[in-house]
Amino acid sequence: MDLQNKTILLTGASSGIGYELAVALAYEKCRLAILSRNLEAINKLADILKDSGSIIKTYKCDVTKKDEVAEAVEEVRKDLGELDIAILNSAVSTRSSVAEFNSAKAEEILKTNVLGVVYFIEEILPVFMRRKSGVIVGVSSMADSRGFAKSGFYCASKSALTTLLESLRVELQHYNVKVITVKPGFVKTPMTDKNEFYMPFLMQPAKAAQIILSGIKKEKKEIRFPAVMSLLTRLTRHLPIFIYDRLSSVQLKKRQ
Ligand SMILES: NC(=O)c1ccc[n+]([C@@H]2O[C@H](COP(=O)([O-])OP(=O)(O)OC[C@H]3O[C@@H](n4cnc5c(N)ncnc54)[C@H](OP(=O)(O)O)[C@@H]3O)[C@@H](O)[C@H]2O)c1
Repeated sequence: MDLQNKTILLTGASSGIGYELAVALAYEKCRLAILSRNLEAINKLADILKDSGSIIKTYKCDVTKKDEVAEAVEEVRKDLGELDIAILNSAVSTRSSVAEFNSAKAEEILKTNVLGVVYFIEEILPVFMRRKSGVIVGVSSMADSRGFAKSGFYCASKSALTTLLESLRVELQHYNVKVITVKPGFVKTPMTDKNEFYMPFLMQPAKAAQIILSGIKKEKKEIRFPAVMSLLTRLTRHLPIFIYDRLSSVQLKKRQ
């Protein structure tokens, strides 16, 4: 898929993978809408990219607020035309132990990582289905594969997102609407900078962005990277429960 002149919406562009993805997309000569709650950060990024060859507009939007999502999509349509590609990348992650178990954390994570994607899809899907074209890219995670200790809400949010995207992908084939699921391993961003444990095969966000961009251009149904982590998480998924629990418990003790 050639991205030139396409109207692309990208959420979570203020830092990490989203920031680097905005940089990579900007050199594709497209019409790019970048969104986040931090308008100052995305305005600064748009300014850095002003000579990239793309038209770049910024929008302040909290993805947990349905009305803000609707308004942002409407504004993008007015400014840049009907969307061709929506890259739904915004997410939050906080690790907490069972001793801190509370619904407020669950609400924040599930609202951002799941409903924050649903609200955008609700806005764009009718047009994509009517036009019989469009691409929805959802940034999930390899953390969707099992319930990792201290990351229950995050894992639950990403497995919900992955299965939602899969279900949509199957149904939307008949409308020629493509759904792409992105599943990164560990990428060095503000999200993972908080992690106190060793992260194997940690990748730089610019490299992750290049892999995602290349996967979108190839219209891959799933973009998983790095390959070794992908293999490891596939194996982990199929471990019998008693082995998984034993290994997880050893890991947990090591990290305490
Ligand atoms: N880093 C990794 O190792 C890794 C691995 C697997 C998957 N992922 C996924 O990759 C994506 C990007 O993560 P990252 O590592 O780049 O994290 P990051 O640097 O923390 O970026 C997260 C982005 O999400 C935005 N965001 C958070 N809450 C939001 C809200 N309520 N409304 C609008 N935007 C919101 C943030 O923007 P504002 O705060 O400015 O609003 C920020 O731009 C996420 O979906 C994450 O789950 C990351």
